[in-house]
Amino acid sequence: MSTEQLTAIVTGAASQRGIGRATARKLAQQGWAVGIIDLDGDAAAAAASEIAAEFGVPALGVAGNVTDPDSVDAAVTAIERALPRVGGLANIAGITSPTRFFETTLEEWNRVMTINATGTYIVSKRVAASMVEAGYGRIANMSSVSAIRGGGVFGGVPYSAAKAAILGFTRALARELGPTGVTVNAVAPGVVSTDIRAASSTPELEEKLSADVPVGRQATADEVAALFAFLLSPDAGYLTGATYDINGGSHIY
Ligand SMILES: NC(=O)c1ccc[n+]([C@@H]2O[C@H](COP(=O)([O-])OP(=O)(O)OC[C@H]3O[C@@H](n4cnc5c(N)ncnc54)[C@H](O)[C@@H]3O)[C@@H](O)[C@H]2O)c1
Repeated sequence: MSTEQLTAIVTGAASQRGIGRATARKLAQQGWAVGIIDLDGDAAAAAASEIAAEFGVPALGVAGNVTDPDSVDAAVTAIERALPRVGGLANIAGITSPTRFFETTLEEWNRVMTINATGTYIVSKRVAASMVEAGYGRIANMSSVSAIRGGGVFGGVPYSAAKAAILGFTRALARELGPTGVTVNAVAPGVVSTDIRAASSTPELEEKLSADVPVGRQATADEVAALFAFLLSPDAGYLTGATYDINGGSHIY
């Protein structure tokens, strides 16, 4: 880190075993102040208190719905008031869905697209403005290997489409913000051991998902968090518009 402590905002960092929470912890370990935005405001606040106590950095967790610009504005404003200048953003909030194409309703399509893709747009737009003004910023967006290989892991057509939208968003925003000192990259994990599939997976399916990976297991949330932390680090200044695969060899190209 530079001598000035900066704040990293992490969305979707409340769930106990999730990638967002692991990323918030990793960033705190590296000296960032941490702002957490999650639908679950109580869990976000609890995560921030735990992180502040464990790593001795300022942290604030607030309720925010990434699909609602007013809610995002209120959450980011609260973080900006309480914490140092925002220099990093990890857009991690998201949902998955295994529904097959002909069973997908328009409502489900909209829900998956809106939380994953539109949410990334809304939060980035709110946060990037002050980064551009400061001439420095790092944004990392959560995509998925499903965007690249056309599903085939767990998520169906809407999920793959939403995560592919995030890749296009990342590339175009990286180009537009390049001259301003703000970098924008995407992370595309394969299957990660978290609770995101809990509502619709089975132990047999989880075993199969692991067996299909050349390294023979699912990623840990910490492994994906380490990649986000690197992309938000000062060292990553010449990386922008890139997609980082982290899939245990499940998609090699
Ligand atoms: N787990 C995997 O195998 C895997 C693989 C590739 C990509 N991903 C992506 O990683 C991200 C995190 O997944 P995870 O496995 O940690 O899941 P998770 O369910 O543990 O965490 C997701 C978090 O996002 C929050 N969230 C959901 N909707 C929100 C909204 N509208 N506004 C604010 N917060 C919201 C949830 O409350 C939760 O804390 C997701 O974008 C997911 O698509 C996960």
